[in-house]
Amino acid sequence: MLRSALLAAARSTNVRRIVESNPLTGPVVDRYVAGTTALDAVAATRALAARGMRTTLDHLGEDTLDAGRAADTVNAYRAVLGSLGDAGLADRAEVSVKLSAVGQSLPVDGEKIALDNARLICEAAAAAGTTVTLDMEDHTTTDSTLGILRDLRVDFPWVGAVLQAYLRRTEQDCRDLATAGSRVRLCKGAYAEPASVAFAERSEVDRSYVRCLRVLLEGAGYPMVATHDPRMIEIALDLAARAGRSAEGFEFQMLYGIRPDEQERLAAEGHRLRVYVAYGDQWYGYFMRRLAERPANLAFFARSLLGR
Ligand code: FDA
Repeated sequence: MLRSALLAAARSTNVRRIVESNPLTGPVVDRYVAGTTALDAVAATRALAARGMRTTLDHLGEDTLDAGRAADTVNAYRAVLGSLGDAGLADRAEVSVKLSAVGQSLPVDGEKIALDNARLICEAAAAAGTTVTLDMEDHTTTDSTLGILRDLRVDFPWVGAVLQAYLRRTEQDCRDLATAGSRVRLCKGAYAEPASVAFAERSEVDRSYVRCLRVLLEGAGYPMVATHDPRMIEIALDLAARAGRSAEGFEFQMLYGIRPDEQERLAAEGHRLRVYVAYGDQWYGYFMRRLAERPANLAFFARSLLGR
């Protein structure tokens, strides 16, 4: 119930106005968002690299209905990729892109504009010497996003994508993408989805996550295990060992600000650990999804708004 309400609020302009205009929101948002500028994102990468971790940088923004704004997002990615190259950090960081931020939701030619824009970001990533992963948004975009992935991989075979274990289709998508050279980030899924396409119970989502993990870890691609769930992490380690994968053969990924001690522990144990670093001023949708993931976050948020 609470999760659905928060996810509905994540797409409400009215709630957005209230939350964004409250000055007390800032410190809570800071837990999940690394700053507003490319320099902040590069600084976060430098700090995490010093502790043996990699990053994937997300310039916040989504669902744009303005082609000019989509072009601004492309420029923001080009800028941060250039800064990573200049700072000598391109081997420690890549970028994550939401196609709805670069045009996918535009009413006319959205898919083509998103593909062209994503291509520009891939060119900048190639010039910097790093990679791009396509985030996955709600289920109405899955086919479009996987289609754009296929097109991009013709010229940029290292482009990765996210698959969401809560979708009923995902086990098959994992099979299709568990091929040599492919990079797949497996997460549970963060959007409000109908039962016709997604598992509703947490236990069903977890079971699907394990089935998908098995397909990816036994397959020929490069799995990126995106979860903070201790049980999923243990199972991934076990399945990776059984599949004969070395520490370089897969990686764990977690969100900036969530279970940082576990991030350090896994990195210190010699596992590849990449932190998803969100930055920018369009934090609202991202922040609300983080609140929805853990009800305790809402109480914490409410207390901080009340100044207690
Ligand atoms: P689960 O929700 O069961 O959480 C396990 C434990 O982690 C919790 O008990 C708690 O301790 C901690 N935790 C989880 N979320 C927390 C939070 N917000 N605040 C504090 N603690 C928290 N989704 C999507 O739909 N499309 C995408 O492209 C991506 N991309 C993505 C990239 C990366 C690198 C990660 C790690 C995650 C995503 N996600 C995503 C989000 C993902 O779908 C999911 O919503 C969250 O990762 C939470 O699920 P867990 O697997 O962590 O398990």
